[in-house]
Amino acid sequence: MCGIVGYVGEKQAAPILLDGLSKLEYRGYDSAGIAVFDGEKINMTKAKGRLKVLEEITHGGSTMPGVLGVGHTRWATHGEPSDVNAHPHLNRDGSIAVVHNGIIENYLKLKKKLVKKGYEFVSDTDTEVIAHLLDYYYDGNPLRAITKVMHRMEGSYALGIIFKDFPDELYAVRKDSPLIVGHTETGSIIASDVPAVLKYTRDVYFIENEEIVRMEKDSMEFFNVDEEQIEKEPVHIEWDVDAAEKGGYEHFMLKEMYEQPKAITDTFSPRIRGNEIVIEELNMSDEDIRAVKKLMIVACGSAYHAGVTGKYVFEGMARIPVEVDLASEFRYRDPILEEGTLVIVISQSGETADSLAALRESRERGAKVLGIVNVVGSSIAREADNVMYTWAGPEIAVATTKAYSCQLIALYLLAVKFAKVRGQISDAQVKEYIEDLKRLPDQVELLLNNKNKIQKFANRYLAAKDVFFIGRGIDYAISLEGSLKLKEISYIHSEAYAAGELKHGTISLIEEGTLVTAVLTQEDLFKKMISNIVEVRTRGAFVLAVTTEGNDEVKKAADYVIYIPRTNRFFTNSLAIIPLQLFGYYISVGRGCDVDKPRNLAKSVTVE
Ligand code: G6P
Repeated sequence: MCGIVGYVGEKQAAPILLDGLSKLEYRGYDSAGIAVFDGEKINMTKAKGRLKVLEEITHGGSTMPGVLGVGHTRWATHGEPSDVNAHPHLNRDGSIAVVHNGIIENYLKLKKKLVKKGYEFVSDTDTEVIAHLLDYYYDGNPLRAITKVMHRMEGSYALGIIFKDFPDELYAVRKDSPLIVGHTETGSIIASDVPAVLKYTRDVYFIENEEIVRMEKDSMEFFNVDEEQIEKEPVHIEWDVDAAEKGGYEHFMLKEMYEQPKAITDTFSPRIRGNEIVIEELNMSDEDIRAVKKLMIVACGSAYHAGVTGKYVFEGMARIPVEVDLASEFRYRDPILEEGTLVIVISQSGETADSLAALRESRERGAKVLGIVNVVGSSIAREADNVMYTWAGPEIAVATTKAYSCQLIALYLLAVKFAKVRGQISDAQVKEYIEDLKRLPDQVELLLNNKNKIQKFANRYLAAKDVFFIGRGIDYAISLEGSLKLKEISYIHSEAYAAGELKHGTISLIEEGTLVTAVLTQEDLFKKMISNIVEVRTRGAFVLAVTTEGNDEVKKAADYVIYIPRTNRFFTNSLAIIPLQLFGYYISVGRGCDVDKPRNLAKSVTVE
């Protein structure tokens, strides 16, 4: 996500802020800004685009005098990438400046209240609410104002704050978004990630949830939300810069897999209000939702695979007919888009050429398009009639993991919403689905923590030539994605088959020792799948089964079993994908491949 840097000390702040931000560039961003107190007022410079632009405008920071400041690289969430939406954000008289990482979930409610009290907003961001709220509560005591604001905010945040009235003090606070602080030889520094401070110090304090830090040039005090002082111990960082960028993980892909519990939470929680699902950005009344006759899901790569899952979920839960198509096919096949068809284009980058062309084609034919997109302000997000964002944050590894997982969540939310409005499920069922959604992050975490078992297994198959993935129903959808994960980063030939199709060709490819990964999470299909497992095993296959806890039968049929926790039959893909991602990852690592940048592949395919 976004990057934060802050400094108070004896050196000019701006060059230090810019230098720190440059170390956070790898995290992905679309605009940047810094605010520095010059002794009289807080000056601010912000620019859309690369950090280089900001560096040029400020001559490497030299045109901004002052020893206290905060800086930010923004990855847009609320409001498109632009100068005005870039951070920092100021209160009304420009005496408080704030930089923020995270999402304030109740910002609309807070904004409404502040507008009523006469506050004027200049940006579309959720962050500006924090600046005005601080202003509202500020009575000369920064710490008090901060704790009051914390009590009002829901969501996640890491904040760097400066007050004109306190020119020697820098404040930092966090909840569910990372933040570290440290002493340098010349002052105190805050950052959202280790690489930004490594040049200045290797001893840092990791701020925990709901902790506040007040820093001066050579002092640092920590408080809890009750304004009580607390003690903290510094941690010595051994990592080199390269490892630090990856947060200590060996690869971005592994880091991003580990970010899935948070990304999933960030995607569903703003859309859950009590026992209801509220998707404001859908801009569809209940009547509009009831009028939908068919869904047409269009996407490429993993986003297409998410769409295949979506088909099973929508049809099974909401009883709406769904067609899923590859965008590259859809755009040239003269698609039939009858009245009542809602087109859903799924894309992480929002820039995939074929997906964008499919969107334009659909709109030209008069269909309404809903985008499920990760990058705010991207072409698909801009051109779709409505856009539902996945809050995965920037994804660096070419092979998608967390963005794909968030696409699934967005589809579940939509399906539950549609199913409820169309009278297919009851309030009690909605409540159950919401409870299942809330359980997913911990369940995903549990599976991730089981990675050694998969690594061990993967190491036995480093020399595999062909791997097959089989499943039925929704498990076929996850087989497609599992197979893609493996082939794109390990260069092992791999294919996914609907298990019932085995007899129509694939089975002739099974030889002694061929690895077959069977996914079976759908209880009503267990028996059928076990027959398929037996079929391939009798022809020499080695079978790895991914199945739901409690399915003991499969142990007798398969060679190796990985269990996933229980959830409802529509959400199982979110769990089954974790061991498959880990499997692809460890095979790739074991074969010495370039995990994060596989050959011939690009993260964003902006050409046909
Ligand atoms: C590339 C990426 C995939 C992604 C696909 C679609 O192939 O490597 O991870 O699924 O493009 O990209 P999009 O940005 O539209 O989701």
